[in-house]
Amino acid sequence: MPSAHPPEFRRRATEQEALMAATAAGQPKHPSTEQRPPRGMSGCCPLLVPYYAVTMIGSASLPGGVLLRPLDVGDARALLDAYIRSREHLRPFDPVRPDSFWTLAGQQNGLDEMVQQMKEGRLLACAMLRDGRVLGCATLNTIVLGPSCSANLGYWVEPAEVGRGLASAAVAALCQIADQELGLHRIQASTSPSNVASQRVLVKNGFEQWGTAPKYLHINGRWQDSCLFQRILNDRPPSFGS
Ligand SMILES: CC(C)(COP(=O)(O)OP(=O)(O)OC[C@H]1O[C@@H](n2cnc3c(N)ncnc32)[C@H](O)[C@@H]1OP(=O)(O)O)[C@@H](O)C(=O)NCCC(=O)NCCS
Repeated sequence: MPSAHPPEFRRRATEQEALMAATAAGQPKHPSTEQRPPRGMSGCCPLLVPYYAVTMIGSASLPGGVLLRPLDVGDARALLDAYIRSREHLRPFDPVRPDSFWTLAGQQNGLDEMVQQMKEGRLLACAMLRDGRVLGCATLNTIVLGPSCSANLGYWVEPAEVGRGLASAAVAALCQIADQELGLHRIQASTSPSNVASQRVLVKNGFEQWGTAPKYLHINGRWQDSCLFQRILNDRPPSFGS
């Protein structure tokens, strides 16, 4: 059992209801965005989380007055600032970033792509915020339903905020969202063997290491081994697919 208590999760029920009503009435599902089927697909795909499920996810309260909420297209400046403050801290655990990553335009492009993926139900990328300042991120990517019903988990916290339980609480919140809102069965994560803090975050949240993969990820300029973790969220049958 995870020792970190999942933070209170507040779902935006009224928005969800409005969305369902709009969908039933044949109106666009998102008030500010033209409705369109997922890229590369015609119509509904049974292996993706429904469009409304990811875009209508609510917020969660983390310790110290920090809010966890989905990233939005307006977050580029705050996200860039957080990455710049965290550049050396993240270097040992991140892929080598192109120069464009460290620009506002690069972050805006990345965010636009992320928001599109969230609308397609493939991603839930959240920021940890206090007073409009991004302190870190926690993300479920490669979300699939069907027989896999799983997602990959990633997270980081800027150096001035580590050791305050933020990553553990954010992971607890995402696990709850994955289970209760997205209907997933399993979350997987990988860490560098030397990343003890990250492994501790996972273990505290009920993840188990099930293997080690040699030369698994290209991190900090070289292929590196990874410890593979997973958490089984429930034993429900998949919501869609075969
Ligand atoms: C890993 C990271 C996300 C942790 O964030 P955080 O908000 O400090 O995490 P938490 O405070 O929730 O928990 C960290 C745990 O690791 C423990 N820890 C930290 N450094 C440790 C170390 N060197 N040895 C053993 N335990 C350590 C802390 O004591 C804490 O455990 P506890 O609550 O039982 O005391 C943060 O350090 C980070 O962003 N690192 C760089 C990016 C990264 O590694 N991302 C994950 C990639 S898989």
